[in-house]
Amino acid sequence: MGYKLLEYVVMENKKRILTGDRPTGRLHIGHLLGSINNRVRLQEEYEEFVIVANIQALSDNFDNPGKVRENIEELLCDYYACGLDFNKANVFIQSEVPEIHEIFIYLSNFATVQQIQHNPTIKTEMAQKGINLSTPLGFFFYPIHQTADILCVNADLVPVGKDQVPMVESTRDLARKFNKTYKVNLLHEPDSLVGTEVNVPGIDGAEKMGKSLNNAIYLSDSEEELRKKVFKVYTDPNRIHATDPGKVEGNVAFMYHDLFNSNTEEVEKMKDMYRKGNIKDMEVKEKLFLVMNEKLTPIRERRLEAEKMKGELLARAIESSKKVSNIARGVADSMKEAMLLNFKN
Ligand code: TRP
Repeated sequence: MGYKLLEYVVMENKKRILTGDRPTGRLHIGHLLGSINNRVRLQEEYEEFVIVANIQALSDNFDNPGKVRENIEELLCDYYACGLDFNKANVFIQSEVPEIHEIFIYLSNFATVQQIQHNPTIKTEMAQKGINLSTPLGFFFYPIHQTADILCVNADLVPVGKDQVPMVESTRDLARKFNKTYKVNLLHEPDSLVGTEVNVPGIDGAEKMGKSLNNAIYLSDSEEELRKKVFKVYTDPNRIHATDPGKVEGNVAFMYHDLFNSNTEEVEKMKDMYRKGNIKDMEVKEKLFLVMNEKLTPIRERRLEAEKMKGELLARAIESSKKVSNIARGVADSMKEAMLLNFKN
């Protein structure tokens, strides 16, 4: 009995994690290193919530709902493949938790147009899309909606890639403003937890890996695809012969080695040889393929397993959504109370 009680107490004391992804395409190694590895590592220590952000995905895919719908199952397969345990982490679907929209509208009173415009994530995305005053509001205000994702379970920690850190900053800001305005201690100010210190570059050397940029290595890529991509990675364009001294900085082969190859001694030795013109690009890439393939093979194999369980994984996510919805109802009700919107007595 003592044991049971202890277990209960420990459960209750667990801090909460919330993070997630838009279901717009398959996950790549940038996602793995940026956020997914941390989620898998922390799924026991924390009470973990992973949101499949399908409403957010619609904000720039509203004319293509089929794509978003199809990619929900793909995302669930990727999660399973990486080792997220659906019995531990609460993987849920954003559109099944309507309380998020309610919390979003309450929070929107605390965010300004300027604040969103200056949000670095939004800024980059707007620049990429080349949009301005004709930007759909759904896209413009998604940072506040994302804040509602995080606050709907009052998360303490948000594991994200580096590009998403400003979103967590603005969550802290809105939570603080809400609490201060209504003199409550209700909304948590969550911390972000970044995986790799650098954004994982694309195979072409672009700063970010992305589907639309056609420069990504996907978790679902076959061994052959992985090999092809590794041998295509951007190295030093000025190095014509293997005997030419090469540049290691900005060289994607070495950036990936730094991220995937745990034998740092070997990596440093190769860098040194590369600088002196004592090693071929091909050798560096062959080694890279081997280390990456070793890390990605178990994921690839589990993904094949997951594909046969799509229905089951989706059912689990819908079930978890109910649990999240209950928690979010509690948060939304407390917010209503703070704003004098409670009419029950
Ligand atoms: N915007 C995130 C991305 O594009 C996905 C996301 C939605 C998210 N809601 C979240 C991430 C809440 C962390 C917390 O990757």
